[in-house]
Amino acid sequence: MSRAAVLAGLGTYVPPRVVTNEELSRTLDTSDEWIRTRTGITRRHWAGPGTATGDLAVEAGTRALKSAGSGDVDLVVLATTTPDHPCPATAPEVASRLGLQTVAAYDLAAVCSGFVYALASATGAIAAGIAERALVIGAETYSTILNPEDRTTSVIFGDGAGAVVLRAGDPDEPGALLGHDLGSDGSLKDLIIVPSGGSRQPVAAAGTSGARPADSYFSMQGKPVFRHAVTRMAASSQAMLDRAGWAAETVDWFVGHQANVRILHAVADQLGMARERTAVNLDRVGNTSAASIPLALADAVTGGLITPGDRVLMSAFGGGVTWGSTALVWPEVAPG
Ligand code: UT7
Repeated sequence: MSRAAVLAGLGTYVPPRVVTNEELSRTLDTSDEWIRTRTGITRRHWAGPGTATGDLAVEAGTRALKSAGSGDVDLVVLATTTPDHPCPATAPEVASRLGLQTVAAYDLAAVCSGFVYALASATGAIAAGIAERALVIGAETYSTILNPEDRTTSVIFGDGAGAVVLRAGDPDEPGALLGHDLGSDGSLKDLIIVPSGGSRQPVAAAGTSGARPADSYFSMQGKPVFRHAVTRMAASSQAMLDRAGWAAETVDWFVGHQANVRILHAVADQLGMARERTAVNLDRVGNTSAASIPLALADAVTGGLITPGDRVLMSAFGGGVTWGSTALVWPEVAPG
């Protein structure tokens, strides 16, 4: 029997500072009503000066290891769009701060699909015998790349981190990941982009006013992203259901990337699933990109929605563009 990756621990962290729609409405031409009705978001958490993605990742990682009942892992994969530095990767320092000296550790960049990609990457390492136990983290501080003057992005994204422990196990035990569907379409890369700061366009000098250049901020073409997100998450979810041999109506919980409640409902409709089966926590945390799915998972487990034995389908869409899905039967795991 082939080795499966089995979910054995779950932990999350959001920074304490809550930013409400009302607070954003004071500095941006927006309103609580617009944000709530167009996205479903009422508030989000922003880290603030001095706190980086790695700090949130360490908190979530600590909780996931506690939930797993063991600090023993031999691989750390950190999905993030907002690493602590362009170089080196954030994962080795996170591993070191978690007491995991000398383990394999790397970052993975797939924007909002990052966590689903990281699950697949760690699963591959476990299946190949490269790792026995992996800590998979999604962590973001989008507040550091949002243009405070851009109402189309500033109202949407939040900071946070979520992590799971995967261990080697059997494909038929609860918690085993039942396969992965991943994809990308790089011809659409401009839909979600931070234009400068990479090798294509190195960081521009600040203007004479000393202001940060506009092209160093995150930008998104919301409308086409919305359309592609619905189409790709629905198709990827269906591919994953086919792989797992599950009919859509037998899924207990759809844990989709928390970008917009209208996207989640549209995907549920396309799959033929009841909208009530969709886990939603974006109202309280906004879009936390790579941290989104583990935060939604933990929220649903803590809230008593997802219980052991439930069929859980996860799907994400993000910059790249990228998308991906996976599924599992929920094991006896409570967030740490
Ligand atoms: O995480 C990766 C995946 N990301 C996503 O999936 C995001 C997908 N996109 C979306 O969720 C939605 O497209 C948004 C929430 C970003 C925008 O909602 P929309 O219904 O697509 O709005 P829109 O961009 O078509 O804008 C409608 C109007 C525009 O005004 P006009 O042109 O009709 O006069 C915008 O300028 O709403 C305006 N608008 C705002 N108004 C108040 C845009 N942002 C705001 C705002 N407050 N924050």
